[in-house]
Amino acid sequence: MYESKRTLALVGPGRAGTTIALALNVSGWHVTGVAGRAPDAPSTTSTAACLDAPPSLVSDIGRGAAVVMIATPDAAIESVATACAASLERDALVFHLAGSRGLDVFDALLEARPDARVGSMHPLQSFASTSAGLGRLPGSWAAVAGDPEVEEIAAELDLRAFRVEDSRRAQYHAAAVVASNHVVALLGQVERMAKAAGVPFDAFAPLVIASVENAFRLRPEGALTGPISRGDLKTVQSHLEALDPGERDAYRALAREAARLAGRRDNALDRLLDDLRHAGDTGPT
Ligand SMILES: NC(=O)c1ccc[n+]([C@@H]2O[C@H](COP(=O)([O-])OP(=O)(O)OC[C@H]3O[C@@H](n4cnc5c(N)ncnc54)[C@H](OP(=O)(O)O)[C@@H]3O)[C@@H](O)[C@H]2O)c1
Repeated sequence: MYESKRTLALVGPGRAGTTIALALNVSGWHVTGVAGRAPDAPSTTSTAACLDAPPSLVSDIGRGAAVVMIATPDAAIESVATACAASLERDALVFHLAGSRGLDVFDALLEARPDARVGSMHPLQSFASTSAGLGRLPGSWAAVAGDPEVEEIAAELDLRAFRVEDSRRAQYHAAAVVASNHVVALLGQVERMAKAAGVPFDAFAPLVIASVENAFRLRPEGALTGPISRGDLKTVQSHLEALDPGERDAYRALAREAARLAGRRDNALDRLLDDLRHAGDTGPT
């Protein structure tokens, strides 16, 4: 039988799982075991050492833990949950960290162990590494679902919890992907365009940071500046003509979004964006 409620087992010793297990460990939780793809996999042994916990097999990971956190890639959650079912302590809580998955991933687990409690906690934060992620946890928001204890764990991590129903999960996760991954992809475009213009990418940092801060302070509609919001079509045209053809689709797509945000129902702008698309992108005209 497990000794304390504040006992945690980790399955999936990657960036998110290690960060959260470490944060809970620092706030007094005892980590009972770490399971990865194999007990001797480098990520399993290094995370286990860092958490002062034994490496374990997934099939044994529930032993002695009041809470099991699954932090594997999303596609593995269901099979991992099923694999650990037999080892779970009575009434254990099992939760995952995925934004894209609901609680239905635990259907097979609950069939095998109807006494288990299930939930999910998706921190709206990007953990590119454990060291960077730890400092960013406090004050971040997190989507929670399922057993109320998940909300208590979020509170211990200083996360601001909100609930998302399974039926709106995909919409929610799509917004998170745009907010994180697509913003980074867009900055990849800025980096390429800066290089083509012979200017340093770093010079854009204050501009990007101010624009993002303004969008949250003034809301996106109030923060929009630039040629689209001013209706300066000549400038938009000169951009499209100067850009590498490979950069035009993203520029156009976001120019349309800017026009939508600015409330510009502008036929001339639509024509400009469409004309250049139909012109075949053969290069500057
Ligand atoms: N990273 C983020 O910014 C972030 C933010 C919020 C939520 N999340 C969620 O957190 C979860 C983990 O994401 P991550 O970015 O931390 O991924 P990650 O860094 O790739 O870590 C995944 C870990 O799971 C292990 N693993 C893979 N398949 C496994 C299996 N079948 N059984 C046991 N362990 C297995 C991997 O082992 P190896 O080390 O051997 O590859 C790795 O240690 C995902 O659900 C993700 O959506 C991530």
